[in-house]
Amino acid sequence: MKDSKSAKDIFSSYDSESPIATEFRRIYNNLKKHCTPADNSFLITSSNRGEGKSTIASHLALTIAQFTKKKVLIIDSDLRRPMMHKIFKLDNLFGFKECLSDSQDPLQAVKKTHQKNLYVITAGARTGTPSSLFESETVANVIKKVQFYYDYVIVDSAPVLAVSDTLFLGAILRKTIFVVLAGVTPREVVLRARDVLLDSNAEILGVVLNNALEVLPYYYDYKYYEYDRFREI
Ligand SMILES: Nc1ncnc2c1ncn2[C@@H]1O[C@H](COP(=O)(O)OP(=O)(O)OP(=O)(O)O)[C@@H](O)[C@H]1O
Ligand SMILES: [Mg+2]
Repeated sequence: MKDSKSAKDIFSSYDSESPIATEFRRIYNNLKKHCTPADNSFLITSSNRGEGKSTIASHLALTIAQFTKKKVLIIDSDLRRPMMHKIFKLDNLFGFKECLSDSQDPLQAVKKTHQKNLYVITAGARTGTPSSLFESETVANVIKKVQFYYDYVIVDSAPVLAVSDTLFLGAILRKTIFVVLAGVTPREVVLRARDVLLDSNAEILGVVLNNALEVLPYYYDYKYYEYDRFREI
């Protein structure tokens, strides 16, 4: 799995009629039960690096924007390994980092994509000490503001076991989708990450098993992504 793959324009590879898009619509149908107009944001995270968080966040957002025609915003909060500007082919000069460090208006940081109704706040210029930015009240203010203007806000994040950034976000956003790279991430690592998230006051709504086909061949043969209640895995 190479970065160049996800660097490919998401719009050229996304097929709304595909079985994968169907799976994302199913994930959305589960998620919307947990949403209200005033509380419409999700954090996407995982235990470790490279489990597919950014891939899933971007495909989920695209699916919701296409399927519901509602306004969807993705925020790239992974200031260490930002991906959204690559996935959506956007510049990354001004983004989430500037909203946190320079108190810039988050609405000014929003970028349009080729999909109507789908918007992105990229991570922004790199910083040496991202953790301190997440500790401030500004994070909550940024989220609160964009929640008001967008029907859904999806926040892609760094893995919980690597850095503390995501734990601050978990405490603010609460609703968390937990990605597990099936067959790769050891069970005890997943459980440790779950405990760390719950301790930070996040609420794990469900798990997306990435790459389920590779390791669970008895699944429907089209299933790449599987969403389930956390306790059932
Ligand atoms: N189901 C999949 N099938 C094939 N390739 C995948 C799949 N999921 C993710 N990838 C690829 O794996 C790589 C890592 O995925 P991605 O960037 O989404 O992970 P991540 O969890 O966001 O990583 P990081 O922790 O660095 O932020 C990318 O190149 C992506 O295209
Ligand atoms: Mg990522």
